[in-house]
Amino acid sequence: MALVIGVVNQKGGVGKTTTTANLGAAIAELGKRVLLIDIDAQSNLSTHLGISGKDDLQESPERPPVPEFTIYDVLKGTKQIKDVIIHRSKNLDLVPSSLLLSAADLELGGVVGRELILKRALDKIKNDYDAVLIDCPPALGLLSLNALAAVERVVIPVQSEYLALHGVRQLLDTIDQVRGIYNPSLIVGGVLICLHDNRKRLARVVSDTIRAYFGDLVFDTVVRTNVSLAEAPASGQSIFEYSPKSSGAEDYAALAKEVLND
Ligand SMILES: Nc1ncnc2c1ncn2[C@@H]1O[C@H](COP(=O)(O)OP(=O)(O)OP(=O)(O)O)[C@@H](O)[C@H]1O
Ligand SMILES: [Mg+2]
Repeated sequence: MALVIGVVNQKGGVGKTTTTANLGAAIAELGKRVLLIDIDAQSNLSTHLGISGKDDLQESPERPPVPEFTIYDVLKGTKQIKDVIIHRSKNLDLVPSSLLLSAADLELGGVVGRELILKRALDKIKNDYDAVLIDCPPALGLLSLNALAAVERVVIPVQSEYLALHGVRQLLDTIDQVRGIYNPSLIVGGVLICLHDNRKRLARVVSDTIRAYFGDLVFDTVVRTNVSLAEAPASGQSIFEYSPKSSGAEDYAALAKEVLND
């Protein structure tokens, strides 16, 4: 049975994509088969892993390869999910994204069952994998709802900075609603403190507040701020390919063990 995780927070820039890419890569490093799904129109996860998001820009020598089909085709119902999967590296597959997703909320507005398209697609293939991770956009629109309806667990990255918990109540309410309507077994699998700089007093205070608010839901593993994690996407590599001895690699390897043992 695959472990199906959505990495969700409508707040931007908190570490969702970095977590999806590197937690996924860490689980793959442990010999498990992993599928990553990029459901954000920004296509950051796809580019992070060396595959372009599909858009209308010209291909150029500096650009990673552009996929022919993407998650957009799956949501529109013109492609099966198995036909858009890219075998990226050992144990690591990716469903890439497309800039076209930015109009998906509107385009799918009239489709009955539009919140369940990803779940229905994923049900057909998820058992080919040990873990499936979905990188969500910084919004609680139709794309995040599709992810929440399709997963078993939500991982919520938060940053130990001012306003870390801003919007978290709304996110938890949305998770409750999705649980009530589409996905009764949905759980919050954990809150992950990301981009943490323990030298900053504010970061220490905020992470204490996060632990006080969420209690046991907060992962023991904290992802420290690490320049290699910020650099790796530019070379299309996971942290384990780019800098396997970095603190970022250490933190995501520890997180993978924690997630698999939960
Ligand atoms: N632990 C870290 N140390 C240093 N830089 C990091 C770390 N985690 C993420 N970053 C950098 O911070 C930025 C935001 O991270 P990321 O793209 O993962 O956030 P996000 O939540 O996916 O953003 P968005 O909401 O736009 O999708 C990126 O430039 C990323 O490389
Ligand atoms: Mg992102």
